[in-house]
Order: sequence, then structure tokens, then C-alpha cells
Amino acid sequence: MDNKKINITVLVSGGGTNLQALIDAAEAGRLPGASINRIISSSHTAYALERGKKHGIATCVVSGKDFPDEEKRNEKLLEELRRADTDLIVLAGYMKVLSPVIIKAYEGRIVNIHPSLIPKYCGRGFYGIRVHEAVIAAGEKESGATVHFVDEGVDTGEIIMQKKVPVLPGDTPESLAARVLETEHEILEASVGRVVADLQKRM
Ligand code: GRF
Repeated sequence: MDNKKINITVLVSGGGTNLQALIDAAEAGRLPGASINRIISSSHTAYALERGKKHGIATCVVSGKDFPDEEKRNEKLLEELRRADTDLIVLAGYMKVLSPVIIKAYEGRIVNIHPSLIPKYCGRGFYGIRVHEAVIAAGEKESGATVHFVDEGVDTGEIIMQKKVPVLPGDTPESLAARVLETEHEILEASVGRVVADLQKRM
């Protein structure tokens, strides 16, 4: 008997290249147990929304602008997650911190991609290009990407997968970011595939 499809909701805030990597993997049949059902953006202008629309995936926006009150924004987010019958949440370049209520409701079913080798260069203030600026400023010879489960801390949940990339002489934050981003796409697809398979066994 076919296993239940795992409904994935992807939370985004920006360009959506990690989302695109998941969409491409799903369409190529590399994520057979998963269905990307919903994209929720924290921003009306996130290009990730365009990516979803091009692939016929339902999108919605739950932004700080529309919901200045944090609690009301998280209530709306939880409502949208439930409306999408979400089994697994993937944070893909999502720039908001999830409320404890949502983290509790989806414990063990929220994954995040971070552009460093956690526990280095993560936590408050370490996001996007700032991560790579700090790595280069520290003279690191290697960096990488991490996929982890989301708990109530910031970038502190159990690690699912990590992959290293070299920091090359003459690297700028931008050139390092581009190299790490390729690795993010690779390990996000692999991690989601692993978590989906585990969830199917448990459901
Ligand atoms: C990526 O480096 C991701 O790790 C970080 O945001 C950047 C942009 O991601 N959280 P995307 O292109 O929007 O997926």
C-alpha cells in the first residue's frame, strides 16, 4: 500500500532558491513521499512566492506588516499551517522566529537550513551575508551548511545533516555565500528526504 504523502509547508522570506531546490527535487521524483502543498512568506515581495506560483503551489503571506502584533501573527501562521494540513514545516530562508506554540504543535516536524557549520556562526544576528562576513573575518579555512530540527532556541535544534565547503583565498562574503548556497540546496533535499521517510514510518 502506498504510504501517506507527507504534506510539506515551506516558510520563506526571500529569494527562495532553497524552496526551488525542493520543488525541482519533487518534480524530478526525488522526493516521492512528499508533497509541497503550501508556501507561506513573511514578505509580500519575496521572489519565493513567484517560484511557488510558477509551479502551481498555493501561497500566502503572513507578514509583520499585516500583523504587527507578534502573537496575532503567529496565530494566523498556525491557522494557515493547519489549513494546509501540514505534516512537515521547512524553513527555507525564513527570517522570523516561530512562537513556542507552533514549535510545540509541530515538535520534531520543523527543519531549518542554516548557511554555516552549526554551532559556529549561528544564533541571533547570524543570518544571510552576515554569516559569511564573520567566517571570512575570522580567517576560517572551511565553512558549510547545516540542516537541523527547530526547537525553541535559535539554530539550536538537533542536527540532521551538515556538509563542509572550503573557504578559498580571495573569497568575498558573496563568493563564499554562493558556494555555501549550492551545498544548502543539496543537503536540504537530502535531509527532507530522510525526515519524510522517517515520518512515513511513524504515521
Ligand atoms: C540562504 O543562505 C539561507 O541559508 C538563508 O537565507 C539565504 C537565502 O535563501 N537562511 P533562499 O535563496 O531564500 O532559499
